[in-house]
Amino acid sequence: MDIPSVALNNGVAMPQLGFGTWQVGQSTVETALAAGYRSLDTAEMYGNEPDVAAAIAASGVAREDLFITTKVWNDHHGYREALEAFDASRRRLGTEVIDLYLIHWPQPERDLYVETWRALEKLYAEGAVRAIGVSNFAPKQLEKLMSACETVPAVNQIELHPGLSRPRERAFHAQHGIATEAWAPIAKGRLLNASAVTAVAEKHGRTPAQAILRWHIQHGTIAIPRSATPERIESNLAIWDFELTEQDMEAIDAVDAGADTA
Ligand SMILES: NC(=O)c1ccc[n+]([C@@H]2O[C@H](COP(=O)([O-])OP(=O)(O)OC[C@H]3O[C@@H](n4cnc5c(N)ncnc54)[C@H](OP(=O)(O)O)[C@@H]3O)[C@@H](O)[C@H]2O)c1
Repeated sequence: MDIPSVALNNGVAMPQLGFGTWQVGQSTVETALAAGYRSLDTAEMYGNEPDVAAAIAASGVAREDLFITTKVWNDHHGYREALEAFDASRRRLGTEVIDLYLIHWPQPERDLYVETWRALEKLYAEGAVRAIGVSNFAPKQLEKLMSACETVPAVNQIELHPGLSRPRERAFHAQHGIATEAWAPIAKGRLLNASAVTAVAEKHGRTPAQAILRWHIQHGTIAIPRSATPERIESNLAIWDFELTEQDMEAIDAVDAGADTA
């Protein structure tokens, strides 16, 4: 199965649909790999990097066919701390090179994210990571990073779904060449009964989750849905043979009550 890719700002190709692994163990990751997912989103904080590594080993999928994201947790902000956290993650994941390394949260009250970012820049310069990015950063925090440092983040992974569609943040990212990645892309299952979503899904003979994931893809965002249910793991990936119309997109856009933190 060919999952489309997004070209990050350094030319690295990242699958547009990946698998979220929050609260997920080895056997579920194995199911996702068998279903065809090739991008896995984990984090130091999830405590499951060893499970992800074990699932990859058991799957037989070649390392070069995978895209692995992990993240530095809040208590490892700072230059030296982030380098050490990276080494520990890399060891737990059993891989020399991480595809995408993110700062999990900006932690503005600690004000160490610029130093942390310098550590990620060093890892990038050394070739230990193929791309570096951030998560949960507001535009003003991105602006601070970009003015203090050399490297523009390749990705900002933020909560994004039809109930929180953040058009101004997406536009800010696009203007600066930062790819938008959606966490909780199906709103943790909360929007699957929204009438606009069910109407679009029914019109295309698809599940509500498929309609929402298609909405992400057509907005150009990267989505990383999670499920522990084998049928849902499969159906969330089966979204390449239909297309939402402009009206369908607008109908799902309108689910957002206007929340936008930019
Ligand atoms: N950077 C961050 O701060 C941050 C924060 C949160 C999450 N994340 C990442 O983003 C990933 C995705 O976010 P998420 O896991 O919070 O939420 P999500 O993917 O939006 O939703 C997951 C929930 O939706 C259900 N679900 C999945 N597919 C479904 C379907 N087809 N029909 C009905 N229900 C379905 C799952 O239930 P079942 O398992 O029962 O199927 C699960 O309870 C995480 O796993 C993690 O990798 C990052």
